Amino acid sequence: MNISDQITLGRIQKPSKKQIESIVESDARINIWEGAVRAGKSFSCLLRWIEFILKGPEGEMMICGRTEDSIVRNIIRPMQRLVGSDMVYMPGKREVRLWNKIIYVVGANDERAAWKIQGSTLVGALVDEITILPESFFKMLLSRLSVPGAKLFGTTNPDSPFHWFKKQYLDRLEYPHLKVFKFLIDDNPSLEKLFVDNLKKEYVGLWYERYIEGKWVLSEGTVYDFFSREQHIIPSPPGRADWYIVGVDYGTSNPTVYTMIGYSSKTFPNIWLEKEYYWDSRKEMKQKVDTEYVEDLKKFVDGYNVKYIYIDPSAVSIRIELYRYGFRGIMEANNDVLDGIRFHAKFLNNGTFKICAGCVNSIHEYATYRWDQKASLRGEDKPLKENDHCMDSIRYALYTHFKDGEGSRMSAEDLDMVRAQAYGIEQHGRFFDSTWSQMGTL
Ligand SMILES: Nc1ncnc2c1ncn2[C@@H]1O[C@H](COP(=O)(O)OP(=O)(O)OP(=O)(O)O)[C@@H](O)[C@H]1O
Ligand SMILES: [Mg+2]
Repeated sequence: MNISDQITLGRIQKPSKKQIESIVESDARINIWEGAVRAGKSFSCLLRWIEFILKGPEGEMMICGRTEDSIVRNIIRPMQRLVGSDMVYMPGKREVRLWNKIIYVVGANDERAAWKIQGSTLVGALVDEITILPESFFKMLLSRLSVPGAKLFGTTNPDSPFHWFKKQYLDRLEYPHLKVFKFLIDDNPSLEKLFVDNLKKEYVGLWYERYIEGKWVLSEGTVYDFFSREQHIIPSPPGRADWYIVGVDYGTSNPTVYTMIGYSSKTFPNIWLEKEYYWDSRKEMKQKVDTEYVEDLKKFVDGYNVKYIYIDPSAVSIRIELYRYGFRGIMEANNDVLDGIRFHAKFLNNGTFKICAGCVNSIHEYATYRWDQKASLRGEDKPLKENDHCMDSIRYALYTHFKDGEGSRMSAEDLDMVRAQAYGIEQHGRFFDSTWSQMGTL
């Protein structure tokens, strides 16, 4: 009988061929679902994990991810949607109880995380977003899976081809205990075409190759390699801004940069870089003191309806000076560099963010801001600290302001939740009671 014919999953979509194959064949010691975003990796891995809890060997288990918050969002809530009230999560104890099994929850966001699991003996582990965990933690976790029949199930998106996980594990095809399932967006049967089309528009360059095409590619060359005069530069603002935000990158020996971004709800493009201030004390052969920079900022914003000023979080002295001067709306910028760059790239790519032609230093930096090649070869994505002052200043304002404020869209997890409710997965809590026996005989 055809395998997929045996499945009756109610309003959960019938898993794709790839999903079924991965669930059925993931019987190695290490089982990895890797590939494009929203491709149905976690969903398949989770079904397999639940089966393992139900039918695997007795013993302690662990769910690991970057932070407890991300574990709750990416694993615990989706698991609860599938198994319903049989599963109880106790945040204080960092434990999940399901079918008389105890499953520990461990966030591994730094190199010290390995000690948290030292000494434990595990029969199973579920690992979310492997590439953003420390290598030391992953190694320790494998050493803890010492019971016969112990298994690890993990998911990840592609990263650098030199990333430790790619080099030490995925590339070692001869490694007998490893199975890898590569997923692309089409392997998720639940996504509507419009959603997939929009998703593809969110990524560009390096991120398109990794998150849409599922390739392990190097961060090399210029960061915004898709930046072009025709597409991204406009001669002047498209209209009157409703309000402005300002980014501040402060340097004493390095340049100090202010960038002003206009927002209008009535125009398209509706976000634009209107003007910049650039002071390179080395080139100008004149060092300015904080009070002079504050005066310059005052002139820069004079006559503009500026809502917020986002400042380099390390520039404490200038921030204090600005408060003393009576500036309002001073905010410490979020400095998550890679997330900020990806967000910045998305806004350029979807056409909503443009650069006014007068911002010559910023335009120069878009063309010259590069990835650090040495770091890339170590498997790390990191931009070079050169030609980065306008880039940082724009990123501070753009990312901090729009990432979850006006103009931002629902996160993938929010969309998942809405979709789950629409498909009735939420109400399908006892899914496994009625359908697992059929899934189990795949
Ligand atoms: N067979 C299915 N039936 C119903 N929903 C599904 C199915 N497969 C996947 N989904 C849903 O599609 C969405 C994306 O799937 P999933 O979270 O597994 O993707 P992913 O590959 O892990 O993505 P990311 O790389 O972004 O973490 C989720 O809401 C998931 O519940
Ligand atoms: Mg996932």
